[in-house]
Amino acid sequence: SAGDWLPLKQDWSTRWCTLPERYMDGWVDLISNFNTRDSDVFVVTFMKAGATWMQELAWMLRHNLDFVSAANKQSFLRCPYLEFSANNDSAKFHNTLKAADDLISPRVIKSHLPAQLLPLQIFQKNRKIIYVARNPKDVIVSAFPFTTAIKMWQGDLDTFIDEFLNDKVLYCSYWSHVIDFWRMRNNPNIFFVTYEEMKRDLKDVIQRLCKFLGVNELKECEMNPLLAYLSFDNMKKQEFLNPTDLVRKRENNLREDFDFMRRGIVGSYKEDLTADQIAKIDLWSHTCLSQYGICESDIF
Ligand code: A3P
Repeated sequence: SAGDWLPLKQDWSTRWCTLPERYMDGWVDLISNFNTRDSDVFVVTFMKAGATWMQELAWMLRHNLDFVSAANKQSFLRCPYLEFSANNDSAKFHNTLKAADDLISPRVIKSHLPAQLLPLQIFQKNRKIIYVARNPKDVIVSAFPFTTAIKMWQGDLDTFIDEFLNDKVLYCSYWSHVIDFWRMRNNPNIFFVTYEEMKRDLKDVIQRLCKFLGVNELKECEMNPLLAYLSFDNMKKQEFLNPTDLVRKRENNLREDFDFMRRGIVGSYKEDLTADQIAKIDLWSHTCLSQYGICESDIF
């Protein structure tokens, strides 16, 4: 309702989001004025928090587990990445806002934008949002090779961490992104879930999501093939689900070992971060969250 929305909207004027300069060429308004529909579902996450996984799940539930149609169309064509054209040189890429506009309902649309930059109609008309949050240390170790590969970042991991904590990396500020949706989590049009919950009990998440989307709960004979389809190993090996080859075709000089689907686990940071790096990120999280009177374990 407007009552839930307005207090947060007042905070939005203080929010920060690092984006390419080209957003100033009209993209912010174009996205803000994007036309939504009653049946839309927006899958919103900070980058590397599990959007690809969740968009596939949401698409399947909205399309009666149509595995055959899914296999015939790349995931990004079925679930457009709303602001993708704003992030990139539009001469080279099709206009993703137009692609979303042209899509037949019911639409599942992905975005990494923070609440304050999403299409305004989402909040004015209470469109459904599925928000996936993932712990910041795993996001950082996943985002570092990815933003390097897509040339949105250049430098070593230590510098990346410093820039991430100082809101200088694409889509940052991380904590205000998560917090704004966490505070909206009880709104009926918001489904707030964590990557960690999805890893812990995907079956339970799916049944709750069915209720949220207004579709019938799945029977065992429907649930099992869906779980197998959404498993990390399956999604990694299917070209229409794993964006690695698409990134490879777009970017020159990619490292041989680049893979969009890297590990797909909780606690991946333990292999990649030193004790000092972990302590630095934890202290930053503690400081950011204490102003809301919460700690990381309240969310994850
Ligand atoms: P890692 O880099 O830690 O492996 P996004 O889609 O938002 O960009 O998030 C990408 C992250 O989600 C990557 O994390 C990727 O491996 C993980 N992911 C994608 N599909 C998954 C699945 N089916 N199960 C678990 N993790 C998945």
